[in-house]
Amino acid sequence: MTSFWDYLEAAVLAHRQGHLEQADAAYRRMLADQPDDPHLLYLRALIALQKGNGEAAVASVERALEECRVRFAALPAPPGAVQELAEVPAAAMAHAITPAAGSDEYPSGRARIEEVFVELTSRCNLRCRYCALSLPDYVGRDMSPLHVAAVHEFIANAPGSPLVSLNVHGETTLVEGWTELSSRFAATGARLNLISNFARQFSDEEIAALSCYAGIRISIDTVDRKLLREIRRNVDLRIILHNLTRLRAAALREHGRIPRLGINCVVSDKSVFGLCDLVAFAAANGFDDVSLIDLAELTELPDDRPRHISALAPQEYRRALDAIRDAAALGKRMGVPVDVQTSLKDLLTMADYAQRHSVRYFKSNAVALVSAPLPGPGETRGCLDPWRVVKVEEGGAVVACCIGRTRIGHLDEKPLAQIASGEAAQRRREALATGKLDEECRFCPVRPVVAVDAFQAQLAAWWAR
Ligand SMILES: C[S@@+](CC[C@H](N)C(=O)[O-])C[C@H]1O[C@@H](n2cnc3c(N)ncnc32)[C@H](O)[C@@H]1O
Ligand code: SF4
Repeated sequence: MTSFWDYLEAAVLAHRQGHLEQADAAYRRMLADQPDDPHLLYLRALIALQKGNGEAAVASVERALEECRVRFAALPAPPGAVQELAEVPAAAMAHAITPAAGSDEYPSGRARIEEVFVELTSRCNLRCRYCALSLPDYVGRDMSPLHVAAVHEFIANAPGSPLVSLNVHGETTLVEGWTELSSRFAATGARLNLISNFARQFSDEEIAALSCYAGIRISIDTVDRKLLREIRRNVDLRIILHNLTRLRAAALREHGRIPRLGINCVVSDKSVFGLCDLVAFAAANGFDDVSLIDLAELTELPDDRPRHISALAPQEYRRALDAIRDAAALGKRMGVPVDVQTSLKDLLTMADYAQRHSVRYFKSNAVALVSAPLPGPGETRGCLDPWRVVKVEEGGAVVACCIGRTRIGHLDEKPLAQIASGEAAQRRREALATGKLDEECRFCPVRPVVAVDAFQAQLAAWWAR
């Protein structure tokens, strides 16, 4: 039977995707069954706010607050808590009607490419349970030699030796001749970066190639060997560690230095409770940092896939947020920086807010998902990617962002340098610099919401460097 929570989840999804009418109709239908549910009232207030209807938003929030007062009357809330909460929508409202602070002028519309992502392949030796590679109709391919040559030419002629990250989706170490390709790119003077699963035992030649990289990130979601096998299908932690030790030895012997080594951990309902163990493992094994990546849940994958932490029951969800906080604190104590992706940080901020105000409702999954901060008037995403990054997908399409999909051109049409300075790239830059964002930037999970003015100052400072 479809539960209230299933309906709510579907409505919240529609809300997140910007289908405001559809979401609002669903909330109204649910309110007919659960009159005065503060959740639903709060969600309807958000919609009213997004549609610019401040009065309706205030009315809906006031009804939600009244209901909270009634329901939480028995709770020992700190004095003034409800009052403080009541001030929030007012502040949000004031913010929503403030005219955009930026102007059409911004420091520079030109690109200065510092990092190139090259998807040498979209094939992989694994099919991790959360990854697009696990979709039944997924087809992976290698980049054509012509496209590789076009990217190589761009990098060889780019001023200031850009950083070259030799992967996007897929596993680069699967490409035939990847070691020679690495050498060709390194010979341009570029510094090389790689994300790899390290799940296959590398040959000595491969270890030698890896020892030349500037940075390598290894994907390890958990140090629970059984769970790792389950999530990343048959990955054996012992093979990863064996490769790692050989890499360190080869790098020290040949170059007198070790590549910067990091761990990429996808935080899901399955991995989240082992984060402290993972951070301790990283410290014990000399990793330089750990990145906690928010799971982008692909709903087309089978139901036994790892789920986003917000799918956990409320009690467990709270424990999950604590686990992220604890892991970050442990990393600090042990000298291993833990980078928490922006969208996960947003969830922590929401929970802190709820804690301070003793409002249990704000800990709900649905509300956490829908209320993650989106840029409002006068705000934008703090992202320099379209100025400093190009990503070339395996088929030759070019994107001006490390995680996005919006194309700014194709290698079959123009050289990469022209694409980076072309009209589509320019539009992206202008959108970010003025806060007039397209959907992709608006909902970006990795870049923070910042004021347009502050971003323009950041842009100017970067350009002046
Ligand atoms: C797509 S993989 C490519 C590199 C390599 N095959 C690997 O896994 O290390 C790059 C990173 O994205 C992560 N990733 C894959 N699917 C994801 C998803 N659905 N949500 C968030 N991160 C994901 C992987 O764990 C990995 O750290
Ligand atoms: S190893 Fe990387 S690319 Fe391959 S399936 Fe896993 S996450 Fe996807």
